[in-house]
Amino acid sequence: MLAHFRFRNKEMFCEDAKVADIVKESGTPAYIYSKRTFLEAFHEFDSAFSGIDHLVCYSMKANSNINLLHMLAKAGSGIDCNSGGEFFRAMKARVDPKKLIFTGVGKTEEEIRYVLQHDVLMFKAESRSELRTINAIAGEMGKIAPVGIRINPDVDPHTHPYIATGLSENKFGIDSSLAFDAFALAASLPNLRIVGIDMHIGSQITDVDPFVEACTKMAMLTLELKKAGHNIKHFDIGGGLAIPYKVEKPASPSDLAKAIIPILNVIDCKILFEPGRYIVGNAGILVTKVLYTKKHKKKNFLIVDAGMNDLIRPSLYDAYHKIRCVSLKKEDTMIADIVGPVCESGDFFARDREICKCSQGDLLSIMSAGAYGFVMSSNYNQRRRPPEIIVDGDRFYVARERETYEDLISKEQLIDELIEKV
Ligand code: LLP
Repeated sequence: MLAHFRFRNKEMFCEDAKVADIVKESGTPAYIYSKRTFLEAFHEFDSAFSGIDHLVCYSMKANSNINLLHMLAKAGSGIDCNSGGEFFRAMKARVDPKKLIFTGVGKTEEEIRYVLQHDVLMFKAESRSELRTINAIAGEMGKIAPVGIRINPDVDPHTHPYIATGLSENKFGIDSSLAFDAFALAASLPNLRIVGIDMHIGSQITDVDPFVEACTKMAMLTLELKKAGHNIKHFDIGGGLAIPYKVEKPASPSDLAKAIIPILNVIDCKILFEPGRYIVGNAGILVTKVLYTKKHKKKNFLIVDAGMNDLIRPSLYDAYHKIRCVSLKKEDTMIADIVGPVCESGDFFARDREICKCSQGDLLSIMSAGAYGFVMSSNYNQRRRPPEIIVDGDRFYVARERETYEDLISKEQLIDELIEKV
């Protein structure tokens, strides 16, 4: 277990705050994040690359709570943002746009126009038609857009197929064989300024080899593009470094640094990184309460008050999350399926899992839920999304409140003219 979620006298603590006390106030389910953990992860990543000119741009799609964004930015992070909504959050979090990368395979004109109003580090373009669109909008606005071009290096990241992005069969980036054409096009468009080249090969990558392979390909390409006269200042290697969810021992930032710095040294660019999961994944838990226990012929079920709408990773990717009892006072264990209240059989957090012998009212903590947890939550089954709580030492703060029933219909109304005659 990660350092800042520890047991003291058999009770789980997040930093110096007792988890059971936090949820006594907030209720369950609740996301709880450790400020110390995400800041330490950021500094670990950042300092692994201190020997080269670089900027870590935290990928906010992993967790976009504005307090967390603000603190990471204050610690020195830039931000990788992927939509108008993420950009809006970054601005609300008072992130400096000059340290912001605007990513996305399908940016709308509205989003491009919105982001172009600010002086950002770069737009990452993923197709020739997008380059033309950014150019046209920049022209209308009397701006010059700084662009990086995302190349698809066709490298297998050995991860879940849904989160592999750097294979030629994936929708992302520009095929590397067409890179020269794309850069030539960008150079010919008057309202674009080429600033970088980019890749992102996938997520939860446990080994450095796919990064080495992709960086090698991309470094060669960058040198050739520079030779052809393109002024490439930034080389963005994307995100993707894994965290341990189960027993994996993924490569660390310093393993990655050792493996790729020699490759990156030759290209003479500022290196950008976009880690998401590495920074926040193990900084968060989802605490849930056992509502009911029951036994079928072959199975024990623990029905908890969090559902797939709150944390979808097990249902969507069959992802493994450790689940711990918040109090270890019961020593007996049982084998059970830990399932939510949503009316789908896919609504589970674990199947046939050994867990402490739980009874009604016990608290469970779903570990490693800081990345792609709350951000992928929904209101399915009209469930209110849980609060996000940030712990700082022995204090805790509700960084986002639990949604209310009114929130669920705040954009809806009964339209008299429509419903009158049925
Ligand atoms: N940069 C780009 C362009 C990305 O698309 C992503 C993630 C990242 C950076 C950050 O990757 P990370 O360091 O977090 O691996 N929902 C999935 C993960 C989807 C990742 C999407 N892109 C999950 O729950 O595993």
